[in-house]
Amino acid sequence: MGEDAGSPNDLERMLDDLFPYRRITETYRRVPDHGASREEILTEIATMAKAEDATGDAGRVSGSLYSGDHQHYHFLAQVFEHFAHANVLQRDMYPSATKFEGEIIAMAADLFRDPQPIGVVTSGGSDSLVHALYAYREDARERRGVRIPNVVLPVTAHVALRKGAHWMGIEVKDAPLTDAFVVDVEAMADLMDDDTIAIVGSAGDYAHGLIDPIDRLGALAQERGVGLHVDGCLGGFLLPWAEELGYDVPAWDFRVPGVTSISADTHKYGYALKGTSVLLYRDAALRSRQWFASTDWPGGLYLSPGLAGSRSGGLIASTWAAMVTMGREGYLAKAQAILSTNDAIKAGIRAHIPELEIIGDPLFMTSFQSSEVDVYLVNDALKERGWRMNSLQLPPALHFCITGPNTQPGVADDFLADLRAAVDYAIAHRGEPAKSGAMYGFGAMPDGNQTLRSVMGGVLDAMHVAAPEG
Ligand SMILES: Cc1ncc(COP(=O)(O)O)c(C=O)c1O
Repeated sequence: MGEDAGSPNDLERMLDDLFPYRRITETYRRVPDHGASREEILTEIATMAKAEDATGDAGRVSGSLYSGDHQHYHFLAQVFEHFAHANVLQRDMYPSATKFEGEIIAMAADLFRDPQPIGVVTSGGSDSLVHALYAYREDARERRGVRIPNVVLPVTAHVALRKGAHWMGIEVKDAPLTDAFVVDVEAMADLMDDDTIAIVGSAGDYAHGLIDPIDRLGALAQERGVGLHVDGCLGGFLLPWAEELGYDVPAWDFRVPGVTSISADTHKYGYALKGTSVLLYRDAALRSRQWFASTDWPGGLYLSPGLAGSRSGGLIASTWAAMVTMGREGYLAKAQAILSTNDAIKAGIRAHIPELEIIGDPLFMTSFQSSEVDVYLVNDALKERGWRMNSLQLPPALHFCITGPNTQPGVADDFLADLRAAVDYAIAHRGEPAKSGAMYGFGAMPDGNQTLRSVMGGVLDAMHVAAPEG
């Protein structure tokens, strides 16, 4: 104890956090001369997986896991095994991929009321968003001659859209929020110009789980003759069931005139394995902007629906299998459990933790800020008690996105009790720096964001090396 920051022991601790297996498993820096035994590797993998799943399985993690049912995962892994090695690009060899992909798109289109089942299956939410942006950019270039494209996003729109815009030379215009934490439609209208390729709304947004006023955005998009992408990556596979269960779900899907594309992640509330999402379009012409076909390459004729070349048939098959085995009943039951757990958490905070302010009235997550305590100190104390929340900024807040594992009996009550204690901790430690807020402090320094970006780059560097010796 009492070591100076930056001491050798701190470095050791950091290395242990990043490389927890460096002392207990072999670190491979070259392909071993003799292959390791499959049994040993399976045992090693199972040990890591069991340890890493423990917090999530106990229901103490926000978001991330969604289903949490290991029998379901096991079944999906069995399905995956049959096509893990198959390349769905080669449809002559694997025509089953056409069945699976087409039916995933059809089922999603039916859920989100797409007039026709027009879509693609991508590798995840970011992939869906980036492909949508690409289609809008190409469409605006071809039809309207837009050369310096821009997209207007709510500040809360998922950051993958910014990444995609950055990669594709699209300017991002940031639309502010109203006091209700949804996008300010008038401000969005003011930001649009002749080079706007599309506008975006979320259903719901990552930070607060709130649904932007999609009906008003649809009217605006139609009036200006641009597309409206609805990012339902997070909420998409939950909202239709919430509506069926009688929850008040604002209009967000293709029933809203002006909505031209929707992304929704099968690997979130669709309960599929990680690595798939659906991107649906209202019309085929827009979708075809993302098709790639080459006729004059020495490698032969080549066509692919998006950025990926080879894709594993295992993921497509297991996503299809997740949807057809969950069935409407399965999805409804899971949604009911998730929504009522979130209701219980919101009600508990409102009744017993007046220091916290719930942001909006989100259906499947609870996001809270505070004018009385430092929420990052609250997070420190929750971490101590074994909870893994998501930290937000601008304003400082935390969110608990409810998924299958959080619906286990007792989890909501335990959380509320620990949250009350965590707020008391934040009151008792008022004014002290919070460990989980440390990174957010950089923004206030001169060149703080630049410094923070280089620290973050260093983190990525560190994540891409084998454990250091020692
Ligand atoms: C609203 C929203 N959109 C997009 C994404 C990006 O999804 P992915 O992490 O699968 O790329 C997320 C992820 O949480 C999200 O919440």
